[in-house]
Amino acid sequence: MQLWKLDTSDYDWQQSAMADAACKSLLAGELAAIPTETVYGLAADATNATACARIFEAKGRPQFNPLISHVASLDAAREHGDFSEQALKLANAFWPGPLTIVVPKKQSSAICDLATAGLDTVALRVPGGPVMRLLSEKSGRPLAAPSANRSGKISPTRAEDVIADLAPSLGFVIDAGPCAVGIESTIVGFVDDTPRLLRPGGVAREEIERVLGVQLAAAAPDMKADAPTAPGMLSSHYAPDAHLYLNAREASPRDALLSFGPEPLPGAEHAFSEFNLSPRGDLVEAAANLFRAMRELDASGAQAIRAQFIPSEGLGEAINDRLRRAAAPRD
Ligand code: TXA
Ligand code: MG
Repeated sequence: MQLWKLDTSDYDWQQSAMADAACKSLLAGELAAIPTETVYGLAADATNATACARIFEAKGRPQFNPLISHVASLDAAREHGDFSEQALKLANAFWPGPLTIVVPKKQSSAICDLATAGLDTVALRVPGGPVMRLLSEKSGRPLAAPSANRSGKISPTRAEDVIADLAPSLGFVIDAGPCAVGIESTIVGFVDDTPRLLRPGGVAREEIERVLGVQLAAAAPDMKADAPTAPGMLSSHYAPDAHLYLNAREASPRDALLSFGPEPLPGAEHAFSEFNLSPRGDLVEAAANLFRAMRELDASGAQAIRAQFIPSEGLGEAINDRLRRAAAPRD
């Protein structure tokens, strides 16, 4: 595995030997850990089914969930999907950025069926972080990438998290430092006539609804079953090893404390360990810290993690979604 450290303010790297080697590795069907502004992605050439299969193998996914394909521009996205007027509005407003758009897949798209799990729809994103975008452009391929963690585990926001989880499977890792957003992209589906929020994430629902001028519907129930359209996330997802309890009213000396905001919970000073997602109560800062906090508290050796109440407005909706999944009963 090659490890490259990258300062993304240095745009010349795109012309570098490193970028050439990265493209060669991707075109040879190898897997790579590539940063985006949300989380690190476990990337492969989306047109190469074998390479995509290696993604599922490396992640240990119990089922073939469809993958997001990352491209360099809206024009590149339109080679693969049919964008309605409403879908175009969102792409223009939020790309490059932490938004994934699910649209009908074009017959002519070269994205392999495994990447879309055999669905006739495709999830596309032009990421804000430049590395994934530029590698897609330079390699001339859409890059399929789920979050670069083993299935059911916490999404990685730093290169060292990925290396700890997946090093043996990787051709290369690009370390561009911690991800700025720190929580996965929001997924909006334009599959029937109604825009639907398939997964809350880095762009708040309110911002999307303002651009669309309508409210987002929930994922249709029939999208949940065999066709995993509503990111059919297993109920227990993003799971730390320690049990997680939500809406804690007090801290315990046996348990780690995941706190939020300036008001300490009763007993906080005696907690086994503590991570405050945002001492000033800022939900964007909290989102960026969330997965790292869960990893660190998990590693602290506490029996359980108690999470303080976090309001559900703005990015709080996505944060609470991830926390609920992490707290779900395990099979
Ligand atoms: O921020 C992100 O979105 C990160 C970075 C790497 O881009 N990626 C990510 O991928 O979170 P992943 O695989 O962990 O989650 C992608 C979600 C899955 O839950 C999947 O079900 C959904 O996207 N998805 C993919 N294609 C879909 C489709 N055609 N219809 C509905 N949902 C789809
Ligand atoms: Mg994931």
